[in-house]
Amino acid sequence: MKALAILVAAGRGERMGADQPKAFVPVAGQPMLLLAARALDAAPSLDGIVVVVPADRIADARQLLGGVRALRDVVAGGETRQDSVQRGLEALPPGFDGVVLVHDAARPLVEVDLIESVIQAAVEHDAAIPVLGLVDTVKRLRDDRVVETLDRSELGAAQTPQGFRVALLRRAYDKAFRDDVVLTDEAMALERLGEPVMAVKGSARNRKLTTPEDLAWAESLLLSEGHP
Ligand code: C5P
Repeated sequence: MKALAILVAAGRGERMGADQPKAFVPVAGQPMLLLAARALDAAPSLDGIVVVVPADRIADARQLLGGVRALRDVVAGGETRQDSVQRGLEALPPGFDGVVLVHDAARPLVEVDLIESVIQAAVEHDAAIPVLGLVDTVKRLRDDRVVETLDRSELGAAQTPQGFRVALLRRAYDKAFRDDVVLTDEAMALERLGEPVMAVKGSARNRKLTTPEDLAWAESLLLSEGHP
């Protein structure tokens, strides 16, 4: 059983306030995309990585990722994250029928153990995602008013990488596009088909870097670990 990853890095990252696509913004001196690709590269069960970047950054990304052993291809992304994942699916080798992981370059601090646990759970159960339990009490709001307190023990925050048998993810994605549904993650496409998705333990370190504050948090973490 082979496992390949699609690393999506084609977002503009406007909330980061940077003058370049978010994945190219350095974290403690290294572009987020490079950190994320190296993290995937270090996972022993992963056989290849397809990277999706803005069309005008393909050459830059190829150069940046020259040392990434498992890199297979760098392709152009689309208007939305969902379009970019679809482009990644189209770029997988023909006949590939293993497990595909979809990972956001915006989560560059993902641990190898987490990647491996998603791959193993996806091999066993066909679909698996990391989920982080919530620490805050969660409220439902309407017009700035608190309507209800939700049962925290039943809730969690979905992370990436998310792993699936490739045929299952393709079928779920095709249906979402046919139904004109906007997906915020891959698991949502399977939920719409009624297909089960296993949850494995997410991690606080695997935080999505969205704002300048997230970037500062990631930089101080890497610096405290002795990164340049
Ligand atoms: O914008 P958001 O934070 O949801 O992006 C999550 C991930 O999806 C990021 O790694 C971003 O680069 C990627 N993305 C993409 N193509 C888009 C939009 C987002 O590859 N059109």
